Amino acid sequence: MKTLRIEGLTAEIEGKPILKGVDLEIKTGEIHALMGPNGHGKSTLANILMGHPKYTVTGGKILLDGQDLLEMDVPDRSKAGLFLAFQYPVEIPGVTVGKFLKRAAEIHMAVRGEKLNVTKFIKQAREDMSFLEMDQQFINRYLNEGFSGGEKKRMEILQLLTLKPRFALFDETDSGLDIDALKVVSKGINRLRGDDFGALIITHYQRILNYIQPDFVHILYQGRVVTTGGSELVTALEEKGYDWVKEKYGA
Ligand SMILES: Nc1ncnc2c1ncn2[C@@H]1O[C@H](COP(=O)(O)OP(=O)(O)OP(=O)(O)O)[C@@H](O)[C@H]1O
Ligand SMILES: [Mg+2]
Repeated sequence: MKTLRIEGLTAEIEGKPILKGVDLEIKTGEIHALMGPNGHGKSTLANILMGHPKYTVTGGKILLDGQDLLEMDVPDRSKAGLFLAFQYPVEIPGVTVGKFLKRAAEIHMAVRGEKLNVTKFIKQAREDMSFLEMDQQFINRYLNEGFSGGEKKRMEILQLLTLKPRFALFDETDSGLDIDALKVVSKGINRLRGDDFGALIITHYQRILNYIQPDFVHILYQGRVVTTGGSELVTALEEKGYDWVKEKYGA
């Protein structure tokens, strides 16, 4: 079992404090959901985990299996088994999906001292694409260029299946997906579910959590995880919104 542990994390952007002491621990084998009102720091947390340079960490720790994550650069975080599906995936013109996936797979296998078998890789990529109900033509398109919102999200899940990370973060992967695409994306995430995989799903809605049932649900409010529970928290938010959170935990 591996652990991703966030302890008393504080962070700011352009001098404005956003995270004010986040504590959160994810173990492999667990799926966590992170909810919370707009602008309270969910994406900030996800971006800091992936090493986005625009945030300044002012205190606390992030430990990936005891290793100081904040000391690692972005490629090393990815090699250590962390994966982030962005709220807004970037377009990479000039690099095809096939080339991108192959390079990413090569790098990850090299970390484990393995070499990529191209024939096996292509076969697996094709299988994963049909599993995700993606047109095989996508393999020759430039990464995310001109992709619809839903196609970009599926593309992120294809990367996920290729890389099989230890821990994955999904920042509103469900937003903008039609019902069928949501099912496909959930199916992709559920395929990795198991003892060697932990995930943090950032979402505003119950919908995706009906397909990927979380073991723990957290509410991030005013830069802190103010409460943790199970699915009953999701139901409470769906029914009552955030007023009760504000009353109970608001500064
Ligand atoms: N460059 C910036 N300058 C100032 N404030 C910023 C900057 N970037 C982000 N912020 C602020 O940081 C706060 C936290 O934003 P964040 O994206 O983490 O929220 P979130 O919880 O993910 O919200 P949402 O649910 O809307 O995605 C917001 O108030 C946002 O305006
Ligand atoms: Mg966000």
